[in-house]
Amino acid sequence: MASNIERDHVTGTETTGHEWDGLKELNTPLPKWWLYTWIACTIWALVMFVLYPAIPYGKSYFHGLIGFSTRDEVAADVKAVQAQRNVMMSKVGSASFDDIRKNPELLAAAQTAGRLTFANNCQPCHGAGGSGQVGYPALAAGAWIWGGKLEDIQQTLTYGIRSGLDQARDSQMPKFGADGLLKPAEIQQVADYVETAYFGLKDKDATPASIKAGEALYATNCAACHGDKGEGNREVGAPRLASKVHLNGGTRESIVKQVITPHLGVMPNWNTRLDAATIKSVAIYVHDLGGGE
Ligand code: HEC
Ligand code: HEC
Repeated sequence: MASNIERDHVTGTETTGHEWDGLKELNTPLPKWWLYTWIACTIWALVMFVLYPAIPYGKSYFHGLIGFSTRDEVAADVKAVQAQRNVMMSKVGSASFDDIRKNPELLAAAQTAGRLTFANNCQPCHGAGGSGQVGYPALAAGAWIWGGKLEDIQQTLTYGIRSGLDQARDSQMPKFGADGLLKPAEIQQVADYVETAYFGLKDKDATPASIKAGEALYATNCAACHGDKGEGNREVGAPRLASKVHLNGGTRESIVKQVITPHLGVMPNWNTRLDAATIKSVAIYVHDLGGGE
């Protein structure tokens, strides 16, 4: 065989024996450094292929011998953050409002939890940022029916309003129209008085005489709950009438309607849906919306 090996007479390199039109192919091996690098890379790739997730099949994939997964890493991170959050929230749960306010870390945790809870649970009724809508109080406005101290808000949230629980906030307004306690003409008179004196509405149909008659009707029928000057009474959950913010829209129609068949809003109790620490947090959030006392 050795005799068959032909060498190029210029370079002295072996030829492969292939020849095209007198050109002979030289047998020049790959440089050793290149070859070894290539082999090393191939081995590296195979090792990685076996250790790490690489081969998809159907709905799953080969997980690799070391079971590495970026998803697991994220899940572990999330779990760690959650654990940290749980520690913070249990501290919020046991601290007083004063202590939370004094501790920036606790306050930040409570504010975050409160903001998220409000967006998920309260916003549909109370509007973004507690702006309110007809029938649902504007929580940012400071026109509290039941009270705007942290403890008041916490109490309202925990047991709800007319939620059916014994501890719930509950209040009534008589059905002056529907039950015939006031005659239709008297309802118009009392509405003339309330819209002019308290709601700040200008109504050319409200004559001085009817406003005066309405004032007397108000004193006997309404003042017990809403106050002599329309200032409201939190003890009985009667809203302040002398205000720019009104539960039912602030129109004359809303007054007449309320006197005929009162709207009595219901808010669910949250103690079965949110834990005590979360209720505290959302109370702080609501308090900080701008109307807190
Ligand atoms: C027994 C107490 C009580 C009496 C008496 C009473 N109210 Fe009320 N009133 C309430 C309560 C409670 C509400 C709040 C209803 C709710 O929370 O949804 C209310 C709500 C209202 C509202 C809606 C508040 C707003 O800002 O939109 C108006 C208007 C109103 N009352 C007018 C009257 C007038 C006028 C009279 C007298 C004819 C009267 N009320 C007598 C308890 C009373
Ligand atoms: C299903 C609608 C609804 C949802 C959801 C809701 N509320 Fe209310 N909320 C009401 C109504 C209605 C009232 C007023 C009841 C009345 O007429 O007296 C109210 C009253 C309140 C009050 C009392 C305001 C005052 O003037 O004293 C606070 C505080 C409050 N809500 C906070 C919240 C928070 C915080 C959440 C979320 C955890 C929430 N609400 C979720 C309907 C809702």
